[in-house]
Amino acid sequence: MPGTCVIGLQWGDEAKGKLVDLLTSQFEIVVRYQGGANAGHTVVIGDQTYKLHHIPSGILNPGVINVVGTGVVANPATLLKEIDSLLQRGIQIQGNLLLSDRAHIVFPWHIAEDRAMDSSTADGENIGTTHRGIGPCYGDKVGRSHAIRLGDLYRPDFRQKIERVITIKQELLAGVDWSLPNDLDPQTIHAEFSGYAERLRPYVCDTTSYLLDAVEAQRKILFEGAQGSLLDVDHGTYPFVTSSNSSGLGVAAGSGVPGRWITKVIGVAKAYTTRVGGGPFPTELSDATGQRIRELGKEYGTTTGRPRRCGWFDAVAVRYTARLSGIDTISLMMMDVLSHLPEVKICTSYEINGERVNRFPSHVDDLRAAQPVYETMPGWQQDVSKARRRAELPDGARRYLDRIAELVGRPIEFVSVGPDRDQTILD
Ligand code: IMP
Repeated sequence: MPGTCVIGLQWGDEAKGKLVDLLTSQFEIVVRYQGGANAGHTVVIGDQTYKLHHIPSGILNPGVINVVGTGVVANPATLLKEIDSLLQRGIQIQGNLLLSDRAHIVFPWHIAEDRAMDSSTADGENIGTTHRGIGPCYGDKVGRSHAIRLGDLYRPDFRQKIERVITIKQELLAGVDWSLPNDLDPQTIHAEFSGYAERLRPYVCDTTSYLLDAVEAQRKILFEGAQGSLLDVDHGTYPFVTSSNSSGLGVAAGSGVPGRWITKVIGVAKAYTTRVGGGPFPTELSDATGQRIRELGKEYGTTTGRPRRCGWFDAVAVRYTARLSGIDTISLMMMDVLSHLPEVKICTSYEINGERVNRFPSHVDDLRAAQPVYETMPGWQQDVSKARRRAELPDGARRYLDRIAELVGRPIEFVSVGPDRDQTILD
């Protein structure tokens, strides 16, 4: 039974880091396989809060090997900051962290391109990216000729490669405001990235072979998804998505482990919905209830600090992503945030141009036109943060969980009632 995956079912920020941290003790290896520094996984252990961007949340568990796989786009400067901050807090890194030599590098030009592209779209049409250079880096990866991978940093022609890519980028991106400290001077950038390469050398290896060996040796592997299934570049709310396969479909390609070795998928959803950046969001609440959820749930981006848009649980969307990501069970997070509301609503279908629809639309314009059809339930108006068993939850909260499981079509395995490891209902 080598592979279990934790996958977000909404637009990211579902508190996957908490679940991964909780499950890690049952695994030998934890793998991040897509995304990059756009992700922000928060783990709270006692009075300590850890914010991770590239490194899997398993790093907080000594003895677990953490892999940043091939499908990740890595920003070496951010990665080293993350490593340093963990080292300062006494976390063991050496021997516990492996970085794929095939992972692509985010360079300053990617960040500048990301900013420039995101601000050049028509009003209301900008994706609202995290400005971490994710899209342009994946774009170069697919385009191939201007891409540089971690393993390239150690090759004798690295200097020539940098010079060639910078020359082309300068021509292609003439007029782009770089707003970056190191400008685009090949010598400075070569020196900067050679410095990163030396510091990262102990961790960089062929993680694909490592994971294939691990699968053959029947080692237990946990795959940690970043972002959420609705941000999947192929199956999400395109173009308001990220640039990787952030649904369960991305695990095999991003890690190198064939899908047949994945034996369990846990889908993570909040008890409500949030979204950062642009794009349609049928159940969005632009009123006092939305504001209340934002404040109680501390719904501000881990990576960018942006306020998250908040709304009711959308069962149409989650039923779609539960099927897309092939999940076995649901982990429902942030139940405590809804505790004091007089009533709670679940979107059970959409009305699109006068027609009742249960399927999640494939075109963003149809999703934009979708009016949510709600089922309203009485709130439980009681603190649930101390509940440790489902039987300890108020009736209203249990009914809410049952209804979500029924609508999504999968059982709820975990319920989170607060940020701490022990604020989790496992039965
Ligand atoms: P990008 O991944 O920075 O290109 O951003 C594309 C879209 O995905 C934007 O709407 C971002 O706000 C969103 N996004 C990217 N990463 C995350 C995440 O980790 N959590 C939530 N939203 C994200």
